[in-house]
Amino acid sequence: MKLTYHGHSFFEIAGKSGTILIDPFITGNAQASHIKAADFKDVTAILVTHGHGDHFGDTLEISQNTGALVIGVAELAKYCAKMGAASHRMHIGGKYQFPFGTVKLTQAIHGSAFDVNGQSIYAGLACGFIIQMDGLCLYHAGDTGLFGDMELIGRFNPIDLAMIPIGDNYVMGPEDAAYACKLLKAKQVIPMHYNTFPEIRQDVNEFIQLLKKESPDTNALPLQPGQSMSL
Ligand code: NI
Ligand code: MN
Repeated sequence: MKLTYHGHSFFEIAGKSGTILIDPFITGNAQASHIKAADFKDVTAILVTHGHGDHFGDTLEISQNTGALVIGVAELAKYCAKMGAASHRMHIGGKYQFPFGTVKLTQAIHGSAFDVNGQSIYAGLACGFIIQMDGLCLYHAGDTGLFGDMELIGRFNPIDLAMIPIGDNYVMGPEDAAYACKLLKAKQVIPMHYNTFPEIRQDVNEFIQLLKKESPDTNALPLQPGQSMSL
């Protein structure tokens, strides 16, 4: 499995049975200047945590270009279907086996709305994803504050890799994110959702130091936007 971080909360994960994108925010994302929506030619599915522009991003364009299936909560997926995209409706607590792997939706403590011409359109609840793919268990937390039920997520899912926001202001800051890794019992963590905007500027080394204290068994893997790793 090859994982590429495209900045903010956007990940590209290429597995044996397909390539998935999570929260493909490209247009307006200074961290994704190395890539354009049109560069994606072969995408199996796009997992979207919520309707905010920095997560929904270029979902519709990429889906239209590639036929990728948009996966999200029912309200978000229904909107995508209305806009002509292939979509699969799910909701929190539910899991589904797709050809590329299994996706389960988790809670995320956050809002969710599309911004269409300055109007907010309801997009259902924000969520996170537990993804079982090629024998690995991945968790993308979406946008969220710290919540105690991360302990339950960790109890029932042996998380090989967690993608956790650390930017503060809109989501968890470094302290809460380090504690989240402890609750999740994550073996590895990629910090995300930081340094994209002035109000979420963070020193990733501060997170790594806090992680050593709070969750010493979790290995931090800070990736630069555009950087890939094998899993
Ligand atoms: Ni958000
Ligand atoms: Mn966000």
